[in-house]
Amino acid sequence: MNRVETAVVNSPPRRWLQRYEARLLHRLGGPVTAGRVLELGCGRGFGTRLILDRFGAREVDALDLDPRMVTRARSRLAPLGNRARVVRGSATDLRAAFDPGGSGRGGESGGYDAVFDFAIVHHVPEWRHAVAEVVRVLKPGGRFYFDEVTAAALATRGYRWLFDHPTEDRFTGEEFVAELQRQGLQVRGWRTYLRGHYLLGVAERPRGDGKSR
Ligand SMILES: C[S@@+](CC[C@H](N)C(=O)[O-])C[C@H]1O[C@@H](n2cnc3c(N)ncnc32)[C@H](O)[C@@H]1O
Repeated sequence: MNRVETAVVNSPPRRWLQRYEARLLHRLGGPVTAGRVLELGCGRGFGTRLILDRFGAREVDALDLDPRMVTRARSRLAPLGNRARVVRGSATDLRAAFDPGGSGRGGESGGYDAVFDFAIVHHVPEWRHAVAEVVRVLKPGGRFYFDEVTAAALATRGYRWLFDHPTEDRFTGEEFVAELQRQGLQVRGWRTYLRGHYLLGVAERPRGDGKSR
C-alpha cells in the first residue's frame, strides 16, 4: 500500500466502516463461536479484534505482507495474549507464513473454522491463488467471510490517483463469486454496495467434499 492508503486504512473513518462491514457479514454468516479463525491482510489489527469480540472466535491467526502493519497489529493485540497471533507473510502461501517447519501450528490444510478477508484480496496480483489457499485451509463446513473492492472502484480516477493497486485481472462481484464456486465453495449470500464498487458475502466449504489437500 502507498502512504495515502496506509493513512486511510489507519484512520478512524476506516474503523467506523469496518464495524459496519462486520455487522453486515455477521448478518450473512453468523458468529464463529469458539472457532479458530484466520484473517488475511489484517492491517493494524482492528478487524482481528472484531473477529474475537463480535464474531466470538476463540483465537485468530492474522497475517499481513507489510512489516509495519504487523508491528502495529502486534502492539494493538498484545493484551489478548495467545488469542491473537500476527505473522508477516502472503495470503498466497499460508504454510510459508505460519508454519515454515511443517509442525502444524498454523496455515495447515483444513485447520480453520473461518477465514476473514477485510479488503485485501484485490491487492493480490495472483488473487486466485489466495482463494485456493482459503479453500485449502478451511475445515469442511468452515466459512469464508469476504469484503472486497471491485474492478469498477479500482478503475475510478480517485482510486487510480490516490492509491496503488494491481491493474490487471481485477474482478467484478460476479467474477469473484464465480471463482469461489469454481474452487468448490458454496456461496451462502453476497451483495454489492455503493454502485457495485464493493462486495461482501459469506461462502462455505461443503462438508464431505472429499477433497484432501
Ligand atoms: C486495504 S488494506 C486492509 C487492511 C485491513 N484488513 C482493513 O480492512 O482495514 C490491505 C492490507 O492487505 C495487506 N496485503 C497486501 N497484499 C497482501 C498479501 N499478498 N498477503 C497478505 N497481506 C497483504 C496490506 O499490507 C494491507 O495491510
